[in-house]
Amino acid sequence: MSVSQEQFRAALSRWASGVTIVTSRHREEVRGMTVSAFSSVSLDPPLVLVCADRASDTRSVIDRSGVFAVHVLGREQGELSALFADKAREEERFLDLPVEEGATGAPILPGALVALDCRVVARHEAGDHLIYVGHVEAARIGEGEPLLYYRGRYRELR
Ligand SMILES: Cc1cc2nc3c(=O)[nH]c(=O)nc-3n(C[C@H](O)[C@H](O)[C@H](O)COP(=O)(O)O)c2cc1C
Repeated sequence: MSVSQEQFRAALSRWASGVTIVTSRHREEVRGMTVSAFSSVSLDPPLVLVCADRASDTRSVIDRSGVFAVHVLGREQGELSALFADKAREEERFLDLPVEEGATGAPILPGALVALDCRVVARHEAGDHLIYVGHVEAARIGEGEPLLYYRGRYRELR
């Protein structure tokens, strides 16, 4: 017997996480989306992973470029997270953002708590998602408190 999608969603919504935006660039195409399925994987070498929906445009750009940047969002970045999760506003996402180019060529957004610039070293198929393992080539570390996500809502540390 398997769990229903409803049970699965209800169960996983009780997993508290941080929130990231994952970006990538291939030639002139710059994409990014909100991602909570992020994890550290290995210290030596430094590896992280992100899980991306097969249907997402950002995923398709990661496949073509072989690079991505993960931005750990700060407490005040809930609006940015909502924008990067809203498919209807996909073309607005980078309009007002002074994006820099990371060492790998991935777009680096301003104002995140942390930005990890990664090169894809492994790609695993996993149901309707793909798991990308990235080697961290560079890290920018800022100060502040994180944005959190729990039971369908943005939260803060108390
Ligand atoms: C809090 C939150 C977390 C999300 N986490 C993920 C995730 O881990 N992986 C994923 O593929 N989509 C995730 N999404 C959904 C994508 O952000 C959304 O589908 C986005 O519009 C995809 O953009 P794209 O097709 O332009 O790449 C999340 C959305 C929210 C609000």
